[in-house]
Amino acid sequence: MLFPDFRARRMRETSVFRRMIRETKLSCDDLILPLFVVKGKNIKKPIESMPGHYHLSCDNLVKIVKQAYSLNIPGVMLFGISDKKDSLATSAYDPNGIIQNAIKAIKDSVPEIAVLTDVCLCQYTVNGHCGIVYNGKIDNDTSIELISKIALSYAKTGADMIAPSDMMDGRVGEIREVLDKDGFSNVPIMSYSVKYCSAFYGPFREAANSTPKFGDRKTYQMDPSNQLEAVREATLDIAEGADIIMVKPALSYLDVIYRLKNEIDLPIAAYNVSGEYAMIKAGELMGWIDAKQIIMEILLSIKRAGADMILTYSAIEAAKELENQSL
Ligand code: PBG
Repeated sequence: MLFPDFRARRMRETSVFRRMIRETKLSCDDLILPLFVVKGKNIKKPIESMPGHYHLSCDNLVKIVKQAYSLNIPGVMLFGISDKKDSLATSAYDPNGIIQNAIKAIKDSVPEIAVLTDVCLCQYTVNGHCGIVYNGKIDNDTSIELISKIALSYAKTGADMIAPSDMMDGRVGEIREVLDKDGFSNVPIMSYSVKYCSAFYGPFREAANSTPKFGDRKTYQMDPSNQLEAVREATLDIAEGADIIMVKPALSYLDVIYRLKNEIDLPIAAYNVSGEYAMIKAGELMGWIDAKQIIMEILLSIKRAGADMILTYSAIEAAKELENQSL
C-alpha cells in the first residue's frame, strides 16, 4: 500500500497510539551502575571529567548503592582505585583489599543488589597494563593465573558476578576452572569479550589512575576496524564458559552489538563508557544539549541495537527519568 492509501503518520497521531506500537522500551532492569572505590573513610572526591561520579570510600559507596537499589537498579559494577601498586598486583587479591571491603560493606547493608566486580590488573600494577609485564611484553599466561586468583578472592568475599576486563586469551576458561574448583560454580562470568582499543576510555583512566606507563593496549584490546573478530572473541568466551558477553564501548560499536545479538545465544551487555558519558556532561555544562533527553535516547539506541543490559554512569539519572515517565 502506498500513499495516499497508507499514511505512516496515522499511528503517530496520539501518544496512546505511539505507546501501542513502541518497539523498544528501556527499563530500570536494563541498567548497571559502575562505581569507583577507594580506601579510607568519608571520602567522596569528584572525578573531574565525569561530573556526578566520585572516588568513594565504603561508607559513601553504600549510600549510593542504597539509592541505586531504591531506584530499582539491579546491579553495580565495582572498580577499585589502589594506591598500593606493585609488579604483581598483590593489593588486588588482599583479603582486606579495597574491593573485598566494598563487597562486604554492600552485602551488609544492601544484600539484594547484584555486586559485579571488574577484574583486571591495570589499577593495581605499577606499569598500568592489564597483564603482567615480562621483558617489556605483556605475558598472557602468567597474567591469567593472577587474574583468576583475583576473581577467586572476590567470589570468596561474596561478589555475585565476575567481570574480567583484561582481554588476555583464555582467561574466562581459567577463571571458570578456578571458581569451580573452589565451590563457586554458581558465580557467573560477564566477560568483556569484545573490548576495543578505544580513546573513549580516557576519563576512566584518569579516574582509575590506570594509564599505561609505556606503550598502549593495542596488543590485547581489539582493533576498532574489526567486526568479524568480535564474533570470534565472543564464540571463544562462550566455549570457555562465559555467561554474559560484553561489547565495549557501546556507541561507536552498535553494529557489533547488533551482529552479536543475531549470531550468539547468550545475553549481551554493552558498556556505555566514560568518554561517552563525559561528552554528554561537557555538552550539558556548556548549555548546548538537553542531556537528560540525550541520555535516554542513547540508552534506547543501545538497547535497540540488541543489548540486554547496559553498564552506564548515567544509571541513576536514567532510573529517575524512567520513574517520572511511569508516573
Ligand atoms: C580496566 C578497564 C577499563 C575500563 C573498564 N575496565 C579501562 C581500560 O581498559 O583502559 C573502561 C571503562 C570506561 O571507560 O568507562 N581494564
